[in-house]
Amino acid sequence: MTSLQESPTAAGSGANASENFKAAAANQDLADTPPERVAAIVTAVLKGVHTAIEEYDVTYPEFQAAKAWLMAVGEGGEWPLFMDVFVEHAVEAQVARSQHGTKGSILGPYFLPDQVRLPARAGLPRRADEQGTPLALSGQVRDVNGTPLAGAEVDIWHADADGYYSGFAPHVPDGNLRGIFVTDDEGRFEISTIQPAPYQIPHDGPTGQLIEASGWHPWRPAHLHIQVRAEGHRPVTTQIYFAGGEYLESDVAEATKPELVIDPQDDGTGVRRSTYDFELESD
Ligand SMILES: [Fe+2]
Repeated sequence: MTSLQESPTAAGSGANASENFKAAAANQDLADTPPERVAAIVTAVLKGVHTAIEEYDVTYPEFQAAKAWLMAVGEGGEWPLFMDVFVEHAVEAQVARSQHGTKGSILGPYFLPDQVRLPARAGLPRRADEQGTPLALSGQVRDVNGTPLAGAEVDIWHADADGYYSGFAPHVPDGNLRGIFVTDDEGRFEISTIQPAPYQIPHDGPTGQLIEASGWHPWRPAHLHIQVRAEGHRPVTTQIYFAGGEYLESDVAEATKPELVIDPQDDGTGVRRSTYDFELESD
């Protein structure tokens, strides 16, 4: 990494994530949750807070520090970051209980819609001098009965070899290492890209202060984000991890699953290859 690079700040990433989230939420038909359900969930959340206060004999200075921190998270636009890192994995696990096929994982704050559509076998858009070990991921998209799904979309986005995402890090061009592969007649695809690096979630803002104050670390293991979509089928949002990767056992976002780990091998030409098949259930 050169010193000329402008690293993404928590505030910058947070602002981007907030804007993207608001844009996506505007298009969502939000569920009309009945008041009894709202009351039950909020009561349960508050009960958890009250229990922690009792259990740890929380003081007024600690209560005021918590209020100041909550305000700072909002002012810094870090709620999408905080929620996706510390809460989303529990929602994902809950929803996954009723989903068959490929295991899911969290979407995270770095998804961007409407990326370039690519044929079944292609290179992910990247800089001419993109650093990193070449990586090829091939596989097949099927339904849960094993029928190949032609024309399925394999939407992939991942960090570069320094751990930065396009659309969030100012020095990375828009659309870099993002694309949508459309499967062939046999539901197959082959993605040529580079090996991403582990990265630290933005930690120069209030989320980082919390991580430091708690003695935690802000690292995520290296991963590929993938969302697979096919008409008439429930989409799968997941992440693919790498065997032996750093932080695999201590992901700050708690989003790893053993079923989602691949072990690419050098094919003798310097390209690390692996396969991964995806299974989607019907709507
Ligand atoms: Fe990520």
